[in-house]
Amino acid sequence: MHKAKVVGAGSYTPETILTNSDLEKVVDTSDAWITRRTGIKERRIATGGMVTSEMAARAARQALEQSDVEAKDLDLVVVGTVTPDRQFPSCACLLQEKIGARKAASMDVSAGCSGFIYALSVANNAIRCGEAEHALVVGAEVLSGVTNWSDRGTCVLLGDGAGAVVLSRTDEDTGIKAVNLRSDGSFGHLLYSVDKLGLQEPAMEIVPGVCEQKPFYLVMDGKPLFKKAVECLEEITRWTLDKAQVKVEELALMVPHQANIRIINALAQRLGLAEDKVYTTIERYGNTSSASIPIALAEAVAGGRLAPRDKLLMVTFGAGLTWGASLVEWSI
Ligand SMILES: CC(C)(COP(=O)(O)OP(=O)(O)OC[C@H]1O[C@@H](n2cnc3c(N)ncnc32)[C@H](O)[C@@H]1OP(=O)(O)O)[C@@H](O)C(=O)NCCC(=O)NCCS
Repeated sequence: MHKAKVVGAGSYTPETILTNSDLEKVVDTSDAWITRRTGIKERRIATGGMVTSEMAARAARQALEQSDVEAKDLDLVVVGTVTPDRQFPSCACLLQEKIGARKAASMDVSAGCSGFIYALSVANNAIRCGEAEHALVVGAEVLSGVTNWSDRGTCVLLGDGAGAVVLSRTDEDTGIKAVNLRSDGSFGHLLYSVDKLGLQEPAMEIVPGVCEQKPFYLVMDGKPLFKKAVECLEEITRWTLDKAQVKVEELALMVPHQANIRIINALAQRLGLAEDKVYTTIERYGNTSSASIPIALAEAVAGGRLAPRDKLLMVTFGAGLTWGASLVEWSI
């Protein structure tokens, strides 16, 4: 069995910044409340027609530049997203075209905020079983397009962005040591989209000659989700560390999904992991769903936070519910 290792990481976040003070003008909220309850100070918003596949392409080009893999050599492109440009073609196919990954097979993975780790699992397995030699794994979202801007319970949390990694086959004893995925559909009611394809709101109303589209936005029950998130993150982290035979104290860095600083701190506390081993970007980007881990990872790499042989844990949870984690021995 082959192994996969990360050979490049990149990210892209839109230039437009929406601060907590800006949001005070949109809903009944305050910078103090958002900062205290979530850790978020500002988030990026895609403007001027910026779509998910374009942000994904910018992150992907940066990841490819860091590696010695060219787009034309990619065998697989997997994009974790819940906000693709359109239902079909997939965001991955649009991305493939933009970067010129002509020989790749391309697909999207929909797993809520766990999309990147689910996509990583798909690519890791394709490399392990010999189906692919080089793969691009992306998390990219335009959440501002599915935000209910009159719901202060959710609109203050979300942001836009994209992150990417390039994986290559290796026969060295390094790279991805474990990926674990879980889901439990019985908690789907805690975070879901109301959209034109949704079952909660009847599908498109067909008026003679007119297709009236329902709005598309997300709905969340924050309090129980918070509790469930901390439980799931701890469970999957311990399982993943066991599978990789790594102890918490051996971790060089944890890059968790950036949903709420209090969730991240609760997880670190339960694990007994020091604050300086946890990489956070939530203050600047909020929750960018599938993009949050690869954005944070690319920034950590650029900032010199990972050295060869360092043990990296990535862990996430999201709508579904889905959750997942990966233990990687760093190799660049
Ligand atoms: C959403 C979240 C930040 C809310 O924080 P909380 O401490 O649970 O707050 P509550 O929902 O209990 O609300 C407390 C009060 O603040 C108010 N409030 C909610 N959002 C507010 C906002 N943006 N500004 C000001 N007040 C707000 C509520 O109306 C409530 O007021 P009340 O006491 O008068 O009823 C938190 O529950 C959370 O982060 N949940 C998990 C979300 C998550 O991880 N989502 C992504 C999954 S991938």
